[in-house]
Amino acid sequence: MSKIRAMITGVGGYVPDYVLTNHELETMIDTSDEWITTRTGIEERRILKGEGKGTSVMAIEAVKELLVKTSTNPEEIDLLICATVTPDRVFPATANIIATNVGAVNAFGFDVEAACSGFIYSLSTGSQFIETGKYKKVIIVGADKMSSIINYTDRTTCILFGDGAGAVLLEPTNEEYGIMDFIHKSDGSGVEYLHMKSGGSQSPASHRTVDAKEHFVFQEGVAVFKFAVTNMADYAAEVMKRNNLTANDIAWLVPHQANKRILDATARRMGIEDNKVMMNIQKYGNTTGGTIPLCLWDFESKLKKGDNIILAAFGGGFTWGSVYIKWAYDGK
Ligand code: UT7
Repeated sequence: MSKIRAMITGVGGYVPDYVLTNHELETMIDTSDEWITTRTGIEERRILKGEGKGTSVMAIEAVKELLVKTSTNPEEIDLLICATVTPDRVFPATANIIATNVGAVNAFGFDVEAACSGFIYSLSTGSQFIETGKYKKVIIVGADKMSSIINYTDRTTCILFGDGAGAVLLEPTNEEYGIMDFIHKSDGSGVEYLHMKSGGSQSPASHRTVDAKEHFVFQEGVAVFKFAVTNMADYAAEVMKRNNLTANDIAWLVPHQANKRILDATARRMGIEDNKVMMNIQKYGNTTGGTIPLCLWDFESKLKKGDNIILAAFGGGFTWGSVYIKWAYDGK
């Protein structure tokens, strides 16, 4: 019998209505629209407003759309994985909250915390449950409410991030479509360059940690930039090489949306033309777990059955890697 593969059979997404523009940021911090667009490519980002609204609010909308688009009965979902660094609460897992709210009453779920690589880590994790033949319908969500951990007086980080959620459905196939290969890597020494200092077990929340603004993203941008370019490109190239793919064979590169300059440099290093690079960073900024599924959501109508697609991500941890997908359906 031929191998069972996990193929993506649909994409859902959600971004909140509130648009935080570069011009509004100019009124909040010492920055300019010109600096932000030339240094990052970001023009605006979405922010989830409203007391008591967590990441699950966006993820639930993305999964509801996915279920409608794929005509899926939520009771048939076996597993739901949520990639996030901004869970509704430290515990229980946001995946459980999402599953219950969409009616996926027969699913089990868990969160994956791998920062900006969370979606690709979760995609390959979920695909294993399909490939073993154990499960038939797995939902992978990438969702973050980054505005909940951003210091809006720190101009080096607050311009970068936004809120959003995307979700895909994985189902089995015996044909040569779906998740074909992946490489994942991590390096814990990256903690010093990109982290949230307090709120975990090492430094629980206290009046001191709040006063010291330790519950926000800290990033040494220049160091992260260098690691991101080399590692995203090198491991995407490695996945291509071991699957005998050249740049000409690739229909789309889907890079984590961290900074347009990182995306351009990654594509250049891989020899991929600009018009094959999915980019929506100008509209949403960096939504961490959300960037890659939100790209698939925005570009779904352009995708064709049989397209070779390379996903590539780099983020806090450090975590990074690449996934090779042979797209399984014509976008509608
Ligand atoms: O998704 C997770 C992974 N994250 C990433 O991949 C992000 C990687 N890093 C980056 O995207 C970039 O490093 C940043 C966008 C964060 C910063 O861009 P940069 O070109 O590396 O700028 P820089 O940090 O070298 O700063 C250049 C100057 C500095 O001024 P001085 O010291 O040269 O006088 C900064 O203080 O720009 C200044 N600056 C700003 N100026 C206006 C920093 N932020 C701002 C700002 N507006 N928002």
